[in-house]
Amino acid sequence: MFLEVKNLSKTYTDKKFFGENKFNALDGVDFSMKDGESLSVIGGSGSGKTTFGRIISKLLDFDGGSVKYYGKDIKSYNITEFSGIVQMIFQNPYASLNPKLKIRSSLLEAFGAGAPSNAEDIIEKTLESAGLEKKILDNFPHQFSGGQRQRIAVARALIKKPKLIVADEPFASLDVYSQNNITEIFKSVRKNTGVSIILITHDIAAAIKFADRMIIMNEGKIIKDDSSENVFKEKENAYITDLLAAMEI
Ligand SMILES: Nc1ncnc2c1ncn2[C@@H]1O[C@H](COP(=O)(O)OP(=O)(O)O)[C@@H](O)[C@H]1O
Ligand SMILES: [Mg+2]
Repeated sequence: MFLEVKNLSKTYTDKKFFGENKFNALDGVDFSMKDGESLSVIGGSGSGKTTFGRIISKLLDFDGGSVKYYGKDIKSYNITEFSGIVQMIFQNPYASLNPKLKIRSSLLEAFGAGAPSNAEDIIEKTLESAGLEKKILDNFPHQFSGGQRQRIAVARALIKKPKLIVADEPFASLDVYSQNNITEIFKSVRKNTGVSIILITHDIAAAIKFADRMIIMNEGKIIKDDSSENVFKEKENAYITDLLAAMEI
């Protein structure tokens, strides 16, 4: 199995003047995915989507359960090794692009310690996969629209040839046209590179358009893991019906 998550739990602790507040953001999450598989994660605000995405991207520690890639505990991967397995893309593309660096430098930086001698070739290929032209390399992030910046973030995420990209609300800050555009880019990146993509979104239309498999989260739990088609057909679960309605489909 490519990724196997068992009984995952995460508690956030807010320090108060008097004592602490504990909050269960993830509670007994079981999940697995095969090599090359892609899926969408939907759920209301605060349901634990980002927490889940950050944990499986090794950006956040957890309290209980296990996360394994290829049967090996996520904690025993070092950062260099892991950057070739999972890359995360954030809501705000500036989170992955340094505004002070030209795109070329940002992409070179993504190689980590020591770019290989064929770095330029790899960069050109990743640009192509993300539907970008080579001439953008000499520009700065602020010279691009939100949608283009997010594409550059996709190209940057591809540099280390990861097996999985976790994209957390990647179009939350974009207009509708760019949102559709990015969904298409994700689909073509998937096809051209074979990378798996987990798309976290509260945009259910995009979630359906993007993947055949869908996971619904609520209050730190996965309450549904099924084909997008079946999720849509789901009628017996009032919560899902309400959730879908609240998401304005
Ligand atoms: N750093 C934090 N400290 C305390 N509580 C947090 C922190 N991050 C998230 N939470 C809480 O955990 C829950 C899940 O958050 P999150 O994973 O961001 O959900 P989502 O991405 O689905 O909106 C929310 O109730 C949120 O308020
Ligand atoms: Mg979130």
